[in-house]
Amino acid sequence: MRKPIIAGNWKMNNTVAEAIALVEDIKREWSDGSGVDVVLCPPFTALKSVSDAVTGTPLDLGAQNMHWEASGAYTGEVSPAMLRELFCHYVILGHSERRTYFGETDEIVNKKVKAALASNLRPIVCVGEQLEDRDAGRTEAVVEEQVRGSLAGLSSREWTDVVIAYEPVWAIGTGRTASPEQAQDAHAFIRSVVREMADESLSQSVRIQYGGSMKPANAGELLGQADIDGGLIGGASLEARSFVDIVKAAQ
Ligand code: PGA
Repeated sequence: MRKPIIAGNWKMNNTVAEAIALVEDIKREWSDGSGVDVVLCPPFTALKSVSDAVTGTPLDLGAQNMHWEASGAYTGEVSPAMLRELFCHYVILGHSERRTYFGETDEIVNKKVKAALASNLRPIVCVGEQLEDRDAGRTEAVVEEQVRGSLAGLSSREWTDVVIAYEPVWAIGTGRTASPEQAQDAHAFIRSVVREMADESLSQSVRIQYGGSMKPANAGELLGQADIDGGLIGGASLEARSFVDIVKAAQ
């Protein structure tokens, strides 16, 4: 009932030429678009080229960040309309790297989520605990605060376009994956928070991705968990073969 969604978060990797080469490789490896949503999230500079390259394919396009204002004196920023113009349909918001290195708070993420939804962009909203939170038994408290803060004040209609990504920070780019049980527990918990914030039906329909060192070798088991509806893939999305293998595991 929930369609799996696999998104490749390329982070600050790939020039335009490299991005086009990667998309062409992905297209060669995978053309059966059934049963899964697949989203590529290149850096801003490669969005236009990747947008052109995915036209007419089952691949969809997302950005990695955006500003919440429509336009104005915000040097270095990109607006929702600028993303829509390039046929972006998704935008990653509140990634832990944005929270850690660029000071994004739940309040900022919430402004961005609302601006994205108002522009018909589907936000992929990232939450996840640090290692010290997990070790101190604070995982649920931290994740609940992020979910409630980042997704505050949404209408039922808006909730239907939201994707949540649970990414334990200690598993991102470290090769250390949450066990399927740890991930499933966190996902079920997030769904219970959504139930309190929205309602039972929206909590059952909202898609929750796992992110953090997902690769072909562990994707099947993670994606087989009841409340895991896809993956937000960093490192393994930079190589066509491994990305497509994860997509096929989701299919
Ligand atoms: P990773 O990154 O797959 O390289 O751990 C995931 C992410 O940060 O979205």
